[in-house]
Amino acid sequence: MQSSCSHFSSDPRPIGVFDSGIGGLTVLRSLMAAMPGERFIYLGDTARVPYGTKSAETVCAYSLGLAQVLRQYDVKMIVIACNTASVHAAEAIADFIAPVPVISMVPPAAAAAIKATKNKHILVMGTQSTIRSGSYARAIDALDPSVKVTGIATQLLVALAEEGWIDGPIARAAVERYIGPVFENADKPDTIILGCTHFPLLRDVIVDVAGQDVTLIDCGEAAQKLINGRTKGQPDIRFLVTDSVERFTPLVERFLGISATNIPAEHIDLTAILNTDLKRAS
Ligand code: DGL
Repeated sequence: MQSSCSHFSSDPRPIGVFDSGIGGLTVLRSLMAAMPGERFIYLGDTARVPYGTKSAETVCAYSLGLAQVLRQYDVKMIVIACNTASVHAAEAIADFIAPVPVISMVPPAAAAAIKATKNKHILVMGTQSTIRSGSYARAIDALDPSVKVTGIATQLLVALAEEGWIDGPIARAAVERYIGPVFENADKPDTIILGCTHFPLLRDVIVDVAGQDVTLIDCGEAAQKLINGRTKGQPDIRFLVTDSVERFTPLVERFLGISATNIPAEHIDLTAILNTDLKRAS
């Protein structure tokens, strides 16, 4: 499922990137930095965020719907820029969209964390659903069973990121409450997987609580290295959201690191698109 493409750069079709909301923009940011000449379609399911509190079945169904939308845009690759969707839907999406390659978040981040840890203790911060699935613990164990994995569901950080409350006392108190106790132990982790694509936004607060020596693994950066396509040029991005664009647009710049006022987000009617697809298939 994790794959790279030969002749990738010469294929003019866009790369489809999706997330439950705005968090996947941190992944898009890494992709754009490595491949600014590519065309990207970013799809944020802002109407149904968060995914992290929902059941595996619901997340899988929602994610498949988003892959179905991206297929209509003739994408040459899908990057699942959401850990929760990666955990519950990567295989289903790969089957659905084959032979289009699919990149998911967990395997590259697990491998990067194992490479980074010196004391063999990794903390995974993720949504409730990601942590409950045990996917990171399994992926790490399969690569190196001697590594200890501590998983903490830090779901509230998703809402804080969506709200843009990524620094200040409220963000600090939430991070402290979730992960502070782990860093009071002598046997504290030296590496943290930001196992939710919303969390790189809270990077500074997380380092503040965990200590400057900790290594943070950003899923987007780890996943981007898997894609064998380096291009130069001007980014060409299209933003699609399932809820109103008003909430999305002001947050784009903060997440993406570039001004996006000249790229208006487009609202898509997900139900209508999926129904049309269904009718066509029957
Ligand atoms: N950003 C997503 C992730 O990486 C999910 C956040 C959510 O929708 O709860 O898991």
